[in-house]
Amino acid sequence: MKVWSVANQKGGVGKTTTTITLAGLLAKQGKRVLLVDTDPHASLSSYLGIDSDEITRSLFDLFQLKTLAEETVKPLVHTTSIEGIDIVPAHMSLATLDRVMGNRSGMGLILKKGLLVLRGHYDHVIIDCPPILGVMMVNALAASDRILIPVQTEFLAMKGLERMVRTLKIMQKSRSKPFKVTIVPTMYDKRTNASLQTLTQLKRDYPSQVWNSAVPIDTKFRDASLKHLPVSHFAPGSRGVFAYKQLLLHLERLSIND
Ligand SMILES: Nc1ncnc2c1ncn2[C@@H]1O[C@H](COP(=O)(O)OP(=O)(O)O)[C@@H](O)[C@H]1O
Ligand SMILES: [Mg+2]
Repeated sequence: MKVWSVANQKGGVGKTTTTITLAGLLAKQGKRVLLVDTDPHASLSSYLGIDSDEITRSLFDLFQLKTLAEETVKPLVHTTSIEGIDIVPAHMSLATLDRVMGNRSGMGLILKKGLLVLRGHYDHVIIDCPPILGVMMVNALAASDRILIPVQTEFLAMKGLERMVRTLKIMQKSRSKPFKVTIVPTMYDKRTNASLQTLTQLKRDYPSQVWNSAVPIDTKFRDASLKHLPVSHFAPGSRGVFAYKQLLLHLERLSIND
């Protein structure tokens, strides 16, 4: 079971879109995918048609469990209308986690341990991160084999990326294995200077981590989200889907060496 986190402390860069699109493509390949929505705003959950105000079981409950076992963790998983995609949805209460139990020891490894008990059920886990550095982000990063950092190809994007890279450096100190990072340029518009310059800068500053391509601007992403479908299922022939297919191939090649 591979575990990827999609993280960037900047909002609106394409985290949730990357999460759902990769999940859609993997599900189409017949893989069993579990999504974890760690953002209290629950946009991934609502993307998949789950109203986080209505549900009684969510990711928050994982942090309340006395024992992490299959029979206690499995009930937090919801099925979705997309074949092959399940989700542990977010709830607003996740925003209180830092205040309520941020200081408890072992708190940073709960998601990792929770996912471990589900490993027989899934081929892939993709964790959609909140744009805030807190208990949830720490849990997501600690649970992951690889961190995907979507970066919008526009001015000021580098600042958000630098912040994320600093966060990873700090967290690295308490880990034995180095983080594996893939930077994913998003919302690329080859007609704009901002896009071209940001891409050049990314390749110059992060040559070994940046994916050597970019996800283009494509209105199909927004259309797909309005239909609550991964774009792979809504507009399989779109340029956005083509780009994410290339990204997936790249990640699969990398994981052979992982
Ligand atoms: N490549 C893209 N082209 C056009 N719109 C995009 C693209 N990627 C994401 N979007 C749109 O941008 C908005 C923010 O994306 P989202 O994935 O929610 O970002 P985040 O999760 O980082 O906050 C959404 O409305 C989404 O549909
Ligand atoms: Mg999001």
